[in-house]
Amino acid sequence: MQLTVAHTIFELQKTLTELAQPKKRVGFVPTMGALHEGHLELVRRAKASTDRVVVSIFVNPTQFGANEDFSQYPRTLEADLALLRAEGVDVVYAPSAEDMYPAGFSTSISVGELGKILCGRFRPGHFDGVATVVAKLLLRVLPHCAFFGEKDYQQLCVIRQLVYDLDMPIEIIGVPTVREADGLAMSSRNRYLSEQERLLASSLYAQLKETANQIAGGAYVEAALMIAGTKLTAMGLAVDYIELCSSDVLDKLTQLEKPARLLAAVRLGKTRLIDNIAIE
Ligand code: PAJ
Repeated sequence: MQLTVAHTIFELQKTLTELAQPKKRVGFVPTMGALHEGHLELVRRAKASTDRVVVSIFVNPTQFGANEDFSQYPRTLEADLALLRAEGVDVVYAPSAEDMYPAGFSTSISVGELGKILCGRFRPGHFDGVATVVAKLLLRVLPHCAFFGEKDYQQLCVIRQLVYDLDMPIEIIGVPTVREADGLAMSSRNRYLSEQERLLASSLYAQLKETANQIAGGAYVEAALMIAGTKLTAMGLAVDYIELCSSDVLDKLTQLEKPARLLAAVRLGKTRLIDNIAIE
């Protein structure tokens, strides 16, 4: 099948109707474009477990704060389409802001406390923007399953909550983080890093691994987190948070008592990096 590119909800739904043959499973991968191997891994998982793959590319204005990088965010549609064509993707939905938010649009979805902790504390409104656009995308595409990266672990939890609360009959599949050779989690924002910052950036994952091992080995959680924060700061990374949380609903943990996730966000110059790691 050839790649079809839809730019409006009308084109999208016409294409999907043609696509929807009985018993064909549709997999969906929402993105903001500037695609890298992390995104392509989601596409490959979708290809491997469904019959038709739809990818959206939309830099969603409502999930960016006033002082964030919405206008600078890389937009590389032609290169993205070439990558998706090579992966054998069936449909790309690349709507305009007007198509996504027509005049008069006014609803916002909030998943409550889950969107206000961790990154939500530093990016007020961010997860409402994510939840709202993902709900719209899921309802427009109506896939059987949708794929999200563990790289944005809180986002994955927010989407699971959204789909559960709103009774959406869509399976949400989390995909492990794809990393550079030195451990840095791949991200469209890594291209903002200077050469020197790029070298330092891998310290975040190295520190997460070290602290996760200490906690798994029985270290006091609060002490291990404090030491990690101090070490990252000493290396020149400004720490927004480093926290141990339950891996399902992200309750803050002071002891390793159930499956847990160590999550952190740091700033390096103008770039904000997030990462997380499982502690079994
Ligand atoms: P974006 O940052 O483009 O990411 C799209 C998807 O790719 C997300 O599910 C994200 O977690 C996943 N991803 C990014 N880097 C990854 C990596 N290194 N390894 C594995 N997966 C990775 O996340 C968004 O866009 C937006 O918030 C969106 C969900 C599209 C809503 O606007």
